[in-house]
Amino acid sequence: MSSIKCVGILTSGGDAPGMNAAVRAVTRAAIYNGLEVKAIYRGYKGLITDEIENFRTQNVSNIIQQGGTILKTARCKEFMTPEGRQLAYETLKKHGIDALICIGGDGTLTGARIFASEFDFPIVGIPGTIDNDLFGTDNTIGYDTALNTIMDAVDKIRDTATSHERLFFIEVMGRDAGFLALNGAIATGAEAAIIPEIATENDQLTELIRNGFRKSKNSSIVLVAESPITGGAMALADRVKNEYPQYDVRVTILGHIQRGGSPSAIDRILASRMGAASIDALLEGQRNVMIGIQNDELVYVPFNKAIKNDKPINRELLNTLRILSI
Ligand code: F6P
Repeated sequence: MSSIKCVGILTSGGDAPGMNAAVRAVTRAAIYNGLEVKAIYRGYKGLITDEIENFRTQNVSNIIQQGGTILKTARCKEFMTPEGRQLAYETLKKHGIDALICIGGDGTLTGARIFASEFDFPIVGIPGTIDNDLFGTDNTIGYDTALNTIMDAVDKIRDTATSHERLFFIEVMGRDAGFLALNGAIATGAEAAIIPEIATENDQLTELIRNGFRKSKNSSIVLVAESPITGGAMALADRVKNEYPQYDVRVTILGHIQRGGSPSAIDRILASRMGAASIDALLEGQRNVMIGIQNDELVYVPFNKAIKNDKPINRELLNTLRILSI
């Protein structure tokens, strides 16, 4: 028998489509298993400022299809301090919360890891970020929807790129990771993806130009990961203007449009499975783990591994992109 009677749930960091589906799944799986559920608003900030509400099954009705997060989210500087975390712990005790489910990305799980070890508090993480940069899970919640948003936007840009015979650099999110850029490029038939993971191997812009990227085409689309390592789309466009002035170059930065919208079926299912699994994990006595899905199997990934920031890109995808862009 588990000693856990009441579980707190929060979303933190950048929002991601499918977070609501995860909140719904956690809430309902917890209630199904006889647990009380307390919703914490604005991520770790709500733990410090005591913004907590009891949740029943009805609180999560009609949210599976909504983007964003009904729990709101924040990036909380105070939680990074020992004093902030002490206040958070006192709020948890005050409300009788004896375990936490934290939904978010790298920063969220880093905060969870520190808090769990400082206070010996049971926490299970759910990977919710469009960046897909958490190790130990094939996909994070929100990544598939963001990819579809990128695909729709790039398809539209291609129309104008073709009409004007232009080279477009389209910058996508991902923080330090190139998953959105690489898979976005494959999904849109782009000429290349410029990503941080291979930045030390070669000058990706020079390689692109040397490969004669426009020899059989009247327009070109290149997806650029936003990372400072790639320099971003603006910097690359400036280089082209200086070094290859024969090209008519334009830049589009997709920005926060990538974080919004109704989640795809893939994200809703992923979030529902992970949400339910997070309660099973707690009841089985799992602590300090993130729920992952690898090859369609649920797995528990220790926080330390998930946040190591070295989830590798699939080299086969890079090669496929190169071959298909001839
Ligand atoms: O982690 C998700 C993400 O959208 C990153 O891709 C991006 O770098 C960052 O968040 C932007 O954060 P904010 O909305 O706080 O500017």
